[in-house]
Amino acid sequence: MTKLTLIALCSLSLMANPYESNKEEMESVVKTGQEVSVDLLKTLGKNLKKHMKAGGPIAAAKFCTTQAYGLTESVDGKYGKDVQVKRISLKDRNPANAAVGKEKVILESLDNLQKNGVVLPPYLVERVNKDTYKFYKPLAINKQVCLKCHGDIGKNQKLSQYLTKAYPNDKATGYSMGDLRGAVVITIKK
Ligand code: HEC
Repeated sequence: MTKLTLIALCSLSLMANPYESNKEEMESVVKTGQEVSVDLLKTLGKNLKKHMKAGGPIAAAKFCTTQAYGLTESVDGKYGKDVQVKRISLKDRNPANAAVGKEKVILESLDNLQKNGVVLPPYLVERVNKDTYKFYKPLAINKQVCLKCHGDIGKNQKLSQYLTKAYPNDKATGYSMGDLRGAVVITIKK
């Protein structure tokens, strides 16, 4: 390797990672991120399944409208003030879940990677500053049931009427199996 390449590589890695990385801290961020994201997805998944079974897609969609956000906040509350949990999307249904700032850049990058045939990693970690990290768990449309409410929803007129009324600016439709839907984001302060 020439000296110039080495200097170029070194300055590149400095630019990419302005903060010194600490292995144990990173491991603990990943551990928390995984634990909390699994907790959230299980909580939401279990409840969605229950409501789909009991009342079909409209009842389940109503459940999502009234409780998905609150359930997310309740999982958020369980892990103390240094851990925050949310769901984000580039094509949000609930505007409170819209990706903002760098989150947008990260989701757009993941979307591009996936469209170019890259199998997405199970998680990514963003170092926000010296003591704050963001753990991203990419969420794909990974079950047929997701398409009932995020696919071609025109097929079910009553459901589509309900969704249009509840979410006048709904962007979360037209997805296909495997598409990137968004991410769970856990912000962790050390
Ligand atoms: C019964 C209808 C229904 C089904 C099935 C469903 N969703 Fe949703 N989804 C919703 C509703 C309604 C919201 C908005 C919730 C809110 O108001 O906070 C939502 C919101 C989301 C969000 C948050 C971002 C946003 O756009 O607001 C993600 C991510 C998401 N859904 C992913 C999925 C995935 C993945 C599946 C399949 C495992 C799925 N959904 C199945 C109705 C559904």
